[in-house]
Amino acid sequence: MKKHILLVLAVILVILVRQVDFFKFKDHTNGPKVFDKTTHSLSDPASLWIIVNKKRPLNPPNYEPNDLTMPKVPLRREPSSVEMKVRASAAKAMEELFDSAKHDGLSLALASGYRSYDMQKTTYDTEVIGYGKKFADTESARPGYSEHQTGWAADVGPENGECVVLDCFANTPEGKWLAIHAWQHGFVIRYRQSTKAIVGYKYEPWHIRYVGKELANEIHKTNLTLEQFFDLPAAPNY
Ligand code: DAL
Ligand code: ZN
Repeated sequence: MKKHILLVLAVILVILVRQVDFFKFKDHTNGPKVFDKTTHSLSDPASLWIIVNKKRPLNPPNYEPNDLTMPKVPLRREPSSVEMKVRASAAKAMEELFDSAKHDGLSLALASGYRSYDMQKTTYDTEVIGYGKKFADTESARPGYSEHQTGWAADVGPENGECVVLDCFANTPEGKWLAIHAWQHGFVIRYRQSTKAIVGYKYEPWHIRYVGKELANEIHKTNLTLEQFFDLPAAPNY
């Protein structure tokens, strides 16, 4: 009889110990941090996470960032050109990105950063004149619809001028390096291979978008486009 009581007590003890473990395990204060997708606005043109595409124009259409800064990096145009500027935090991140490339023996240059509504109009209209509207829409945003106008985006290329803003950039050492390392400095390759039906443009291995290290890390881990990550509609056309 005594033996039975001892056995029952032992079983109760085991159950109690297990429950303590269970509650410890459930303690979320020590658990993995959940990424908060609402940290920044997706619509405010000044937001770090603004999502611009063919379905999401800038509002207001003539938005201008207020902290455009020239990064201390090799430039493909005259320093007097506003196109050699990006938002202040993106400029700092770009300096880090280019320094890191330099450390690995590669020299990157900034080809095009901020573009105003009017500058984008000139870029787009030139494409339309040269190649027709249908083709232009595969690689150039209409004015008021370009990420470049947010000041968070930049086209970068090898400092030696090889394949700048051309498909062949993807096969240069600099292009390959950028595809691997951009996220570590807070940038995403915005228009990746086979994402045209979602992002609206063909592969642009040179076009990087600053979103900050936290989001860039998530995009790297999930391998999603910004639209997919934030559950936004695909934007293949206007
Ligand atoms: N080339 C990109 C899509 C732009 O014009 O903004
Ligand atoms: Zn671009």
